[in-house]
Amino acid sequence: MSVIDKDVDKDLAKADPKNNGFDAEIKHVDTKLIREITEENIKYAAKVILNGGLVAFPTETVYGLGANALDETAAKKIYAAKGRPSDNPLIIHLADAADAEKYAYVNDMFFAIAERFMPGPLTVILPKKDIIPFSVTGGLDTVALRIPSNKIANRLIKASGVPIAAPSANISGKPSPTSFYHVEHDMLGRADVIIDGGECDIGLESTIISISDDGLKLLRPGAITAEMLEPFAENIYIDKSITEKFDGKPLAPGMKYRHYAPDAPLIILDGDDEKVYKYLEGKKNCGIICYDEDMPLLMMENAVSIGHRSDLAEQGARLFDCLRSFGDVDVIYARMPDKNGIGLAVFNRLLKASGYTIEKL
Ligand code: TXA
Ligand code: MG
Repeated sequence: MSVIDKDVDKDLAKADPKNNGFDAEIKHVDTKLIREITEENIKYAAKVILNGGLVAFPTETVYGLGANALDETAAKKIYAAKGRPSDNPLIIHLADAADAEKYAYVNDMFFAIAERFMPGPLTVILPKKDIIPFSVTGGLDTVALRIPSNKIANRLIKASGVPIAAPSANISGKPSPTSFYHVEHDMLGRADVIIDGGECDIGLESTIISISDDGLKLLRPGAITAEMLEPFAENIYIDKSITEKFDGKPLAPGMKYRHYAPDAPLIILDGDDEKVYKYLEGKKNCGIICYDEDMPLLMMENAVSIGHRSDLAEQGARLFDCLRSFGDVDVIYARMPDKNGIGLAVFNRLLKASGYTIEKL
């Protein structure tokens, strides 16, 4: 069985006290790395879930840090391992949309949307049933449900036979993990198991919507875009916190926290090629996130490409890796993305990573 035991410096296993004021010290665990996907290894990981442990696993969006959603103690371990504030609810992952009725009060719009987009990168908020503990929903009477299309995720959920609560498998506040190495970096010594599923196809977390008598609301943009959801609702309400700094209460509690922060401050540059090139000319010790076409920038030190200018899906897939890629730089500059389609999700994540810092050129 290709399960490797790894030990880790105990200091690594302390939650970062700077993370959203959450300073719980977490218990160090010996993390098993599963690098080969076999029936035996999936069964092993499923057993860890059933025994109340934490398993980091790949999905088509980002890696998740999973625990049995029906086991309050196990779910609580997720918060400690991530250094995540306990009022930020978790998404519950199911193997099949037909199982949604066991955990939530579903409606006709849910079935229509599920038929079109599930399994896939879409999370739906619905009123919860009693079986889902409040510790998983951050005290809310609603629950977030998602059916991942990733085959490894699906096999793990099926093998464990329970719904799996899983936030993104990063330390709270850091960029979401889109590769095994990102997860290993953040979760070694924190998760009981990490499953290597290669790179995530989409690379941005799922679109989150709520559907209720008030209609359809977009809480977090992702690969399923508002345009794709238009046939299902007369109006789609777009939560304000997606595109602007907003003092009110966002509909998804997690949207209020600083997120995706790289190790240096990030500034979004809003200007055409000429202005951006001029602004960055001669700048030292800065990271730059630009496009394949930005030759003058790519010749500078610490410049990385997020993809082709017109390929918004490619930009989505590369964003978090770009944010994690810089060594010791004083500041990181990123070009303002195109906000159409999945570009809205890229913009939303960059905006949060920058703490809403835009430099208009
Ligand atoms: O793609 C994804 O969604 C990934 C993979 C692992 O599935 N998961 C993920 O989880 O991004 P997380 O915990 O990083 O983000 C979940 C978001 C948070 O902003 C949280 O506040 C919101 O979903 N959320 C969860 N339950 C909610 C609820 N009942 N009402 C409103 N927002 C909710
Ligand atoms: Mg997250």
